[in-house]
Amino acid sequence: MPGLTKTNEILREITTHSAEETIAFGRTLTDLLAPPKLVLLRGDLGAGKTTLVKGIAAAFEAAAEEDVTSPTFTLVHEYRGPRANLFHIDLYRVDTPRELETLALDDLRDDKSVLLIEWGEKFPRLAQESDVEIALERAGENERRISVRG
Ligand SMILES: Nc1ncnc2c1ncn2[C@@H]1O[C@H](COP(=O)(O)OP(=O)(O)OP(=O)(O)O)[C@@H](O)[C@H]1O
Ligand SMILES: [Mg+2]
Repeated sequence: MPGLTKTNEILREITTHSAEETIAFGRTLTDLLAPPKLVLLRGDLGAGKTTLVKGIAAAFEAAAEEDVTSPTFTLVHEYRGPRANLFHIDLYRVDTPRELETLALDDLRDDKSVLLIEWGEKFPRLAQESDVEIALERAGENERRISVRG
């Protein structure tokens, strides 16, 4: 059970000064996010969670940056790469555990999958089962403090 190895220590920390810098930071995370992983992306609206996924998906050669868009309405976007299959999930509009069940996220989890979940902390089960938490905090108009814990 990967969840049991989570120690919650800070693995990486950075302050970025533009969306481009956040994407570049996302590109450095492939080793840390080697599958299988369940990753929670935490942060307010507009913090940069989706922006970070652009870099992660590009580095895994699963999608071009510009093809990564917010799964706000579709809830799950899938990007398949040679080393990992990324599932970018946005639970902002998912309100109950029952609605969460209908997404069947457990069925997406296998050796090659990396689940990148925005607003997953709304559900204690996901918070508990996550392997890595990436928190993004607005520190100014274009400044974002980003920390990676696992
Ligand atoms: N340093 C930065 N890092 C990331 N994004 C930044 C930064 N500075 C400015 N931005 C801008 O902030 C916005 C971040 O939007 P993004 O969709 O990534 O946020 P989000 O956390 O996914 O929000 P939501 O919860 O609504 O999905 C973008 O418009 C981006 O250009
Ligand atoms: Mg988003």
